[in-house]
Amino acid sequence: MPTLERIEAFADDLTAIRRDFHEHPELGFQEVRTSGKVAEMLESWGIEVTRGIGKTGVIGVLEGNRPGKTIGLRADMDALPIHEQTNLPYASKTPGVMHACGHDSHTTMLLGAARYLAETRDFAGKAVFIFQPAEEGLGGARAMIADGLFDKFPCDELYGIHNSPFHDPGVFGVKKGAAMAGADFFDITITGKGSHGARPEGSKDPVVIGAGLVKEIQSIVSRNLPPTHPVVVSITQFHAGSAYNVIPETGTLSGTVRYFDIEDEKLVAERMRAICAGFAIAHDCQIDVDIRNVFDVLMNDDQRSDDLLAAATDVVGPEKAQLKDDLAMGSEDMADMLRIVPGAYATLGHGGNVALHNPAFVFDDEALPVGASFFARMVEMRGAA
Ligand code: NI
Repeated sequence: MPTLERIEAFADDLTAIRRDFHEHPELGFQEVRTSGKVAEMLESWGIEVTRGIGKTGVIGVLEGNRPGKTIGLRADMDALPIHEQTNLPYASKTPGVMHACGHDSHTTMLLGAARYLAETRDFAGKAVFIFQPAEEGLGGARAMIADGLFDKFPCDELYGIHNSPFHDPGVFGVKKGAAMAGADFFDITITGKGSHGARPEGSKDPVVIGAGLVKEIQSIVSRNLPPTHPVVVSITQFHAGSAYNVIPETGTLSGTVRYFDIEDEKLVAERMRAICAGFAIAHDCQIDVDIRNVFDVLMNDDQRSDDLLAAATDVVGPEKAQLKDDLAMGSEDMADMLRIVPGAYATLGHGGNVALHNPAFVFDDEALPVGASFFARMVEMRGAA
């Protein structure tokens, strides 16, 4: 692959680093070992390190050999609460925790770029390496921002990538404007009245009420929003009861909303609250609704998207640096950073063929030097711009 030669020369090191992270995955805000290793490596290459931005987040700062722009590069470090089923020799050693989204690869790619830039020091401006904790719905980006990330380390531009087993190996894809959905998580708690399973007349049954709510909530998108608006409401959890012969006292429904327009999100939240209030009256019970916004809509800056593709083209050639026009209903908390610093977020295809967040997901290490070269070129090309 047409990666940077110097990075290709230490590709085996990158594979070893990635597999070590893979073997030792850590959940969001618990990336103590991972962030410790990251900080140690950065320091060993002479990069100035700040720990503890956003709890377990780490920042590395490297000055180039001439003045220029400050380019922020971001990678996420957290794993998922999934039990790995790959049988790989370097499979997770932590039961129930797995790098099933490949954040181990993002961290490693950024480390590769940091090492290269520290060795060459042949670039204008400054590189800010942002190693973010807790991307998987836990608010790692917001925690770093709240800790003063961009006040302490102001950046002119910001770039990131996510690995993708859905795209061809070495293919970079970026979409201008709104690219990935914003997301809410919600919990609905129904407090009814428990009873003997044989005496339903004495109950206010949260299972029956909840089943009705599931159906009703599913109609919010189809009957309140124009079909041209991409919005998803999914109820992903329904918990109630613990015995065959007991009607439970409470039940909870949980799920997620995905949207590209904040007005759509507001309408969905409003309808959800109204439906629950109506059900509470109709069934003479209490229903509490908690809706929390967890991800902004990810907005790629038009110009910065072109700049990203220019750097990608430099690494993989024009055919593999692609401007996309498809929206992703998935969410990504780099969106919060891109609200503050204009930049772009891309996908990088690799040879894996199992979906992200699947217990059998396997990342293809061939993509490590490609991602590292991309990050490095981003700094070399944009620092001097
Ligand atoms: Ni991810």
